[in-house]
Amino acid sequence: MQLFYLTIVWTIFYVVQAYPSADYSETRIISETCEEDFLLSNTTRSKLDCGNTCGENPECRRFSFCSSDSTCKLYQHGTDCIMSGDSTSCTCYRKNTGQNGDGSTTCPVGYYGNNCQHVVEDCKDAFNKNIQSNFEHQDILTYIKPVIAEKPFEVMCELRFDGGMKLLNRKYWCSDVNFNRSMTEYEQGFGNIVGNYWIGFNSLITVMYSGSAVYTLQVMLFKADWSPCMIYYGGFQINSSSGYSFTSSFITHNSDVDNCGDSMTGSMNLAGNPFSTYDVDHTGTNKCASRLGGGWWFEDSHNCTRSFLTGLPSNMFWLDDLEEEVLSTAWINLLKN
Ligand SMILES: *[C@@H]1O[C@H](CO)[C@@H](O)[C@H](O)[C@H]1NC(C)=O
Ligand SMILES: *[C@@H]1O[C@H](CO)[C@@H](O)[C@H](O)[C@H]1NC(C)=O
Ligand SMILES: *[C@@H]1O[C@H](CO)[C@@H](O)[C@H](O)[C@H]1NC(C)=O
Ligand SMILES: *[C@@H]1O[C@H](CO)[C@@H](O)[C@H](O)[C@H]1NC(C)=O
Repeated sequence: MQLFYLTIVWTIFYVVQAYPSADYSETRIISETCEEDFLLSNTTRSKLDCGNTCGENPECRRFSFCSSDSTCKLYQHGTDCIMSGDSTSCTCYRKNTGQNGDGSTTCPVGYYGNNCQHVVEDCKDAFNKNIQSNFEHQDILTYIKPVIAEKPFEVMCELRFDGGMKLLNRKYWCSDVNFNRSMTEYEQGFGNIVGNYWIGFNSLITVMYSGSAVYTLQVMLFKADWSPCMIYYGGFQINSSSGYSFTSSFITHNSDVDNCGDSMTGSMNLAGNPFSTYDVDHTGTNKCASRLGGGWWFEDSHNCTRSFLTGLPSNMFWLDDLEEEVLSTAWINLLKN
């Protein structure tokens, strides 16, 4: 993943047209079985025509062009294009800034100001500043720059939850992202941000340590029949000096949605325990992370945990209240109070 980032070749080309115009950077195509939604798909003669089509559409933030069948797809927010199937003839471009017909400027999502010189601090800030590209979307990929972060980075914000930030996204029905990863990878983050994804402790810490805000962790799970349940861990904190252990001072529920049950601090209390991965496993001979196959907070006992959302689709569970259930989707969001 890291190597991949270093080898990105940033090519910039300018669309040859006075208005509307935009400048683009080539980004990556990420192959995943979970294909992402697009704004428009059509055929165009060339990549340049596809870029022009994107330039004319203020909603368009990215486009992909596949030379094999001349398919031009326009996408909204985000950096990389997520495609399934053969994408060897495709390239993906992100719109950096665009000039709209009325003289206004389209900034990358999360940037604002006449010259796109500011960046929102976090998802709550994005929510408060009404950063969004399409009201139909309940979540949005946006750049944020927390106060202590060196540079902006992209996160998925949940607008329906007042600007929650997505930490974990599992789509078990199309999961081909491996979650049995090293501690370094759990620190840097991995997966693709619109599909199966872990944000990474480095990004999470810069958000949480940038002020003195109080946070709530929201766990939202969907059963195989798509019925949801939720549980909230209030007063949620992560301690980066003690192996990313978490603490939470109270749990709450949403009366409109089923309660998932407390599998993180209930009959087996995982608070205060460091996060383990197969290579940095704090569970001694129980080897919970490598045995279960994913990073998580575990107890040093044979049963390891009553919650586990980073396993293979066949091995992820939330035993309190969902013991018999097969899960289809899992989200963990960080809400700023
Ligand atoms: C698709 O491209 C054709 C030919 O360039 C054009 O006439 C048509 O309007 C386009 N469709 C959409 C939905 O943009
Ligand atoms: C974080 O962990 C360190 C090391 O165990 C400890 O000294 C410190 O008090 C903890 N911080 C908080 C806020 O709990
Ligand atoms: C997880 O990865 C480690 C290291 O590659 C391996 O030893 C372990 O068997 C894997 N666990 C599972 C359940 O696949
Ligand atoms: C461990 O799990 C088994 C099987 O689910 C259960 O019967 C047992 O009570 C658990 N042990 C503890 C200490 O929770």
